[in-house]
Amino acid sequence: MRLIHTLAGLQTALADREAVGFVPTMGALHPGHGALIRAARQEHRTVVVSIFVNPLQFAPGEDFAQYPRTLEADEALCASWGVDILFAPTVPELLGSAPLTQVVPPVTLTQNLCAPHRPGHFTGVATIVTLLLQMIRPHTLYLGQKDAQQVAILQRVIQDLRLGVQVRVVPTVREADGLALSSRNRYLNPAQRPQAGRIYQGLHRAETLFQQGERQAGVLVEAVAQELAQESALKIQYIELIHPPTLQPLTRIETEGLLAVAVFLGDVRLIDNVLLKSR
Ligand code: PAJ
Repeated sequence: MRLIHTLAGLQTALADREAVGFVPTMGALHPGHGALIRAARQEHRTVVVSIFVNPLQFAPGEDFAQYPRTLEADEALCASWGVDILFAPTVPELLGSAPLTQVVPPVTLTQNLCAPHRPGHFTGVATIVTLLLQMIRPHTLYLGQKDAQQVAILQRVIQDLRLGVQVRVVPTVREADGLALSSRNRYLNPAQRPQAGRIYQGLHRAETLFQQGERQAGVLVEAVAQELAQESALKIQYIELIHPPTLQPLTRIETEGLLAVAVFLGDVRLIDNVLLKSR
């Protein structure tokens, strides 16, 4: 595996590479990232992983400064997962001097879920991923279902800007109690960690109702709310049922729905979702 910090180094390393699978990350890697990397490893000759804590996607007051930076451990994990190129640029190397040209997702995709609570976040994500795709020019981009709004937005950006990249969405990897793996789980203290397990229990309860035939958004959302209310430390930011590709609210599921939540446990913000789809 090669660790590269500069754009010039990246270009040289990729000059004779085709069939590249690309996994963008912000580091603090865990087996959720590992699932994306393993999928890329199986499907492509060359696997490129980027680690870049992207300042553009953090609002003032969010956790950019505290975000875990664990490059040495990440490097060892990437080597063990069979990564060919680990691209870990500095902020000035990747972003040059501000203000930058930005990629602003369509407003219809930023009216619900996380976007209203994190102004500018998805513009930061769309901008950095577009930049990385332009530099790496992979065949396939690997994304996690855990960040479902990010998936919908990046799919649309790739389509609108004709970036010519395939997207592979990898299912969410969970802990034994159902908690979705996240770099931010490191912020949870020992008392909060079991409390966080309640998030997936809520989503799972709605999943079970859906499998039993329930299709009304109000009932499914209320089932999650009731389960989360059992744990008083959890503060709900949103529970929403939307149509996954368009991210528009649903009152009833016809074919598929995405049930998504964001909660606070103390200062730690956690998100999760389940896809409800008729078989
Ligand atoms: P990060 O949070 O590091 O996540 C990198 C990728 O790993 C994303 O596609 C995310 O959805 C996926 N991922 C995270 N936890 C997962 C889990 N438990 N199961 C499966 N996949 C999981 O998402 C970002 O970074 C950034 O916004 C980025 C796309 C890199 C742009 O800066």
